[in-house]
Amino acid sequence: MTQRPIILGIVGDSAAGKTTLTRGIAQVLGEENVTIICTDDYHRYDRKQRAEMGISALHPDCNYLDIIQQHLNLLRTGQPILKPIYNHSTGEFDPPEYIKPKRYVIAEGLLGYSTRGMRDSYDVKVYLAPPEDLRATWKINRDTRKRGYTPEQVMDQLSKREYDSEAFIRPQRQWADVVVSFYPPPDEMKQDDLLLNVRLVLRPTIPHPSFSDLLDRPDNHLGSAVRLGLDRDMGKPVDVLEIDGHATSEQVHELERLMCNEVPYLGQFCSLNGNQGIGKVVGTTGETLQSFPLAMTQLLITYHSLKAANVFQSLQQIPARV
Ligand code: G6P
Repeated sequence: MTQRPIILGIVGDSAAGKTTLTRGIAQVLGEENVTIICTDDYHRYDRKQRAEMGISALHPDCNYLDIIQQHLNLLRTGQPILKPIYNHSTGEFDPPEYIKPKRYVIAEGLLGYSTRGMRDSYDVKVYLAPPEDLRATWKINRDTRKRGYTPEQVMDQLSKREYDSEAFIRPQRQWADVVVSFYPPPDEMKQDDLLLNVRLVLRPTIPHPSFSDLLDRPDNHLGSAVRLGLDRDMGKPVDVLEIDGHATSEQVHELERLMCNEVPYLGQFCSLNGNQGIGKVVGTTGETLQSFPLAMTQLLITYHSLKAANVFQSLQQIPARV
């Protein structure tokens, strides 16, 4: 009988920022407390086979979704898995890896919410939805710097995979508790990763911090850097939190202070960890990303994870579902 791990899902299309966000959250939670799983490892075919078959890695048939689900369930109950490894450099599979879940498990990938069983495995589901032109820029940067492709090859892949993105990846947005969209401020002539705004769609499928209480406090100095509103997402009403990439460092600290003081569990976490999560986060290609939107997202997601952890703690022990 042990306290079971908290499972966080990060899903989105290729180069939507999943790995960067995952790393940022792991930094906040403490890397020693986090097991990261990338579902690319569950591709059914290697690169050569996919090319021969004319199937993309985004197609459900190209992935062992049933084994992802099985492994998530094992991790959720604290059990180890023997995880396959897809090697992005060679396009082939390496020998599998023995993985034991730590206190938090982050499962990131393309198709993590495509079956009911998978969706039921997470405590918090995040979907990353940057504007398509920004995603294309990120994909070109990553795949040319880290995966040995030319910009033309990446553009070609993007257009070849568009059908699968629309059919299989984007519909998963509907299942997310939080939809995260980083986007350049509309007035920005030059796209700059350091100055991205972030828009968080907060679905009522999990409890969210009471942002309206925080933002309505007369003693806050956030100005218009953080805005809360109502919108519709995929036909349903949602709360939307917008955070300005131009926020000053004073405003950043103010938000951190408010959240750490006001949000139960998060405050506890911040004091325990000496605010170590608030700072620069390094992207997958080594660039330093602007800390604010990421830190904010991390805080938010951290809050949910800790809240879930606390609920489990209060139940004392979770019987393993073996
Ligand atoms: C996309 C996805 C990856 C996936 C890859 C497989 O780039 O972002 O997550 O593993 O497709 O294709 P590859 O380029 O390795 O043959």
